[in-house]
Amino acid sequence: MASPASGIVDIHTHMYPPSYVEIMESRTTIPIVRKFPQASDPRLILLEEEVKSLEDALKDPQAKVPGRPLTTHYSSVQQKIHFMDTHGIQKSVVSLANPWLDFLDASESPAIAKKINEEFSDLCGQYPRRLFFFAALPLTASLEDILSSVEHVRGLKYCRGVILGTSGLGKGLDDPRLLPVYKALAESKLPIFLHPHYGLPSEVWGDRAGEYGHVLPLALGFPMETTIAVTRMFLAGVFDEVRELQIILAHSGGTLPFLAGRIESCVVHDGQLLREGKLAKSRRTVWDVLKEQIYLDAVVYSPTSLKLAAESSGADRVMFGTDHPFFPPLETDEQGEWESVTWNTAAIRKATEGKSVETEAILGGNATRVLRLDEEF
Ligand code: URA
Ligand code: ZN
Repeated sequence: MASPASGIVDIHTHMYPPSYVEIMESRTTIPIVRKFPQASDPRLILLEEEVKSLEDALKDPQAKVPGRPLTTHYSSVQQKIHFMDTHGIQKSVVSLANPWLDFLDASESPAIAKKINEEFSDLCGQYPRRLFFFAALPLTASLEDILSSVEHVRGLKYCRGVILGTSGLGKGLDDPRLLPVYKALAESKLPIFLHPHYGLPSEVWGDRAGEYGHVLPLALGFPMETTIAVTRMFLAGVFDEVRELQIILAHSGGTLPFLAGRIESCVVHDGQLLREGKLAKSRRTVWDVLKEQIYLDAVVYSPTSLKLAAESSGADRVMFGTDHPFFPPLETDEQGEWESVTWNTAAIRKATEGKSVETEAILGGNATRVLRLDEEF
């Protein structure tokens, strides 16, 4: 099938550059990279839900290996390019994968952020016009250090935004202390790529969670985390306070497009909000914010869900992504085609059938426009 004029652009694609892998190799708690006698590749253990299997494997060499294999897909730029070529992807906006710099001490995070963002910049420089990146911020550091980091990354040639988790400065993204950061990002025209990591408390998965692999935290915990984080920002008035702030939501906004109507209904039926004067007729609704300040990636794997995303924020605000190197094929060659990619391209084509302008926009045109991928700087 023909590619769109702007080419296919992947805005949701991760890497752990070599210096980040070294940090994980030196650690004893998650995120951690560790070798086990029962597996050939080193293992990458990231999620709270993986801690029990990590402990079991450390005690018993017969136990199931924890986490996922840390293959070259995670840290090799040549492998990223091979993956892009295999799937007809012209350009990628690469980001550090979770949990970013969230676990670093304030004394070290600014310097490590600088190093890692420069490493990303250099990787992109090896493939000009093909690779761009979302930078990572040292959120555990002081506000001054975070603002210096924004200043640093806005000057990096291939930087097109920042990737952010939901923890903010430790109290979530509705924390008023983050407003100067949001303002600095908006002024620098750097959109936030909001991505989950922490999911929901493990108890919600129940006693049998161990039987279900990573399905519950990844399929449900991740999207709920994103939905909660962005709804808290909305309720706190962040989008009104920083009108130029632009935010790209991972996994098509979690469940935001589906729940926006319910959020609105709960807002207008809330007595406290009414008494506090927060329900003025002129207030902007979740729908307004979705259409004016939010972009959604297209990583939902289903034409039905993709249609909802495109209707919620507009087909001019949805952007193709792969989530590479996560979700590799389990039974076919990793150097070949990945189903986790072809499901998303097929969903986009099906959801926009007969509307080729929309197909092209979602596959690449929107990202090229919004993230200035036709510009070198
Ligand atoms: N699992 C993760 O930990 N991160 C992703 O981005 C996708 C799956
Ligand atoms: Zn991701």
